[in-house]
Amino acid sequence: MSDSDRTHDIVVWGATGVAGRFTAEYLTERYDSADLELAIGGRSRERLADVAADLTRRSDGWEDVPVVVGDATDPESLRAIAEDTRVVCTTVGPYTTYGSNLVAACVDAGTDYCDLTGEVNWVREMIDRYHEAAVDAGARIVHSCGFDSVPADIGTLLVQSFATEEFGAPCETVRIYLEGGNGSVSGGTLASFGELFEAVATDPLARETLRNPYSLAPAGERSGIDPGEQRGPRRDPLRGSWTAPSPMAAVNERVVRRSNALLGYPWTREFRCSEVVPTGTGPVGAATAGLVAGGLGAFTAAMSIRPLRSAIQKYVFPDPGEGPTRSEAEAGSFSIRVLGRGVAPGGRFTVEAEFGADRDPGYGATGRMLGESAVCLARGDLDSPHEGGVLTPASGIGLPLADRLREVGFTASVRQVSDGSA
Ligand SMILES: NC(=O)c1ccc[n+]([C@@H]2O[C@H](COP(=O)([O-])OP(=O)(O)OC[C@H]3O[C@@H](n4cnc5c(N)ncnc54)[C@H](OP(=O)(O)O)[C@@H]3O)[C@@H](O)[C@H]2O)c1
Repeated sequence: MSDSDRTHDIVVWGATGVAGRFTAEYLTERYDSADLELAIGGRSRERLADVAADLTRRSDGWEDVPVVVGDATDPESLRAIAEDTRVVCTTVGPYTTYGSNLVAACVDAGTDYCDLTGEVNWVREMIDRYHEAAVDAGARIVHSCGFDSVPADIGTLLVQSFATEEFGAPCETVRIYLEGGNGSVSGGTLASFGELFEAVATDPLARETLRNPYSLAPAGERSGIDPGEQRGPRRDPLRGSWTAPSPMAAVNERVVRRSNALLGYPWTREFRCSEVVPTGTGPVGAATAGLVAGGLGAFTAAMSIRPLRSAIQKYVFPDPGEGPTRSEAEAGSFSIRVLGRGVAPGGRFTVEAEFGADRDPGYGATGRMLGESAVCLARGDLDSPHEGGVLTPASGIGLPLADRLREVGFTASVRQVSDGSA
């Protein structure tokens, strides 16, 4: 089916949920109905009608927001939506439970797709099952277009593009620092987190995905020199301060390595990347790094034991559907620094990117990152060598996403720094 036969530019699938609602609110406030053929989708016509009424109340640019109804467990309903849409933008998770039929429908219909998944086990499954078919169909399946993994992936792309242009060589190593911020977490995100631990307990492919730092690379290319995530507190080789493991490293590092592979290894096969939480210098920095690493280790251990996991999910985590209010999502912030080091004929160089926003990273900012990813795909505002495949933000969309996010208040900057100030 040609693109011009399709009714909708973008369907926000899961618009009755926390992240889907922020994404739909963002898109209807940023664009008007003359700019964008937008629809919202989900399984309850009634709840969707309430969301649509609220969206039109909030924004003068929309007299009506169309609604499409289906169910993640009903492949025929998803096929009908995919066939009538240019880009399906989905927040229906956990993706391990609810995501696969939609990816299949988009691949079959040659429809572009973006999501918010951090479930690396599921991304690996989608790569193995659908990458080749998506290439053949010309369907761009772009996973992880939220806080996982846009800042890390596009931040690395900013650093590497700058290094290549300025110094004629990419950075050999990139360190991603979760500098700071504040935000919240929804029941849907925690349910997805629980799903990942469940998969690791029951599925050998999920265990292999988390064991191998290159597990999201293309088949036949799943090995290399990068040792993978930092496990404990460590003094930082680039900045001299202490660092703790990042809770998102298992996702973001693998996504960045897949980007390098899908872009054709412009950063070389020896490229190494790591993501950490900086905790400061001296004894306080060391103690904080130890506390963060210990807390993360204890939480991971508890979530790995099924009865404890069930109890935590039942008594500690909020239910799916619960999450921050609009004012909470607008009140947060995040800031990520990406430092790259490389060698050029003129000597060693260091490049630094900053990526951040004054909004809750997982919700206010994620709604924008996902929404703008969908707009890039719908408008063909892309810098990518791929017309189809199971892709990453950097390899499937590229720097146009950074440009669009800058326009809506994100920091996405890059510069050379002297080695003394790194
Ligand atoms: N990467 C990031 O930065 C980031 C940030 C936020 C969220 N996320 C991820 O995004 C996902 C959603 O999170 P959330 O907090 O928005 O979750 P949520 O509030 O629970 O929303 C889930 C959505 O899925 C819909 N849904 C559930 N089962 C369905 C089915 N069978 N068919 C169709 N729709 C169905 C729900 O519809 P009903 O309203 O009808 O129940 C709801 O719209 C999670 O996987 C989370 O991890 C990622």
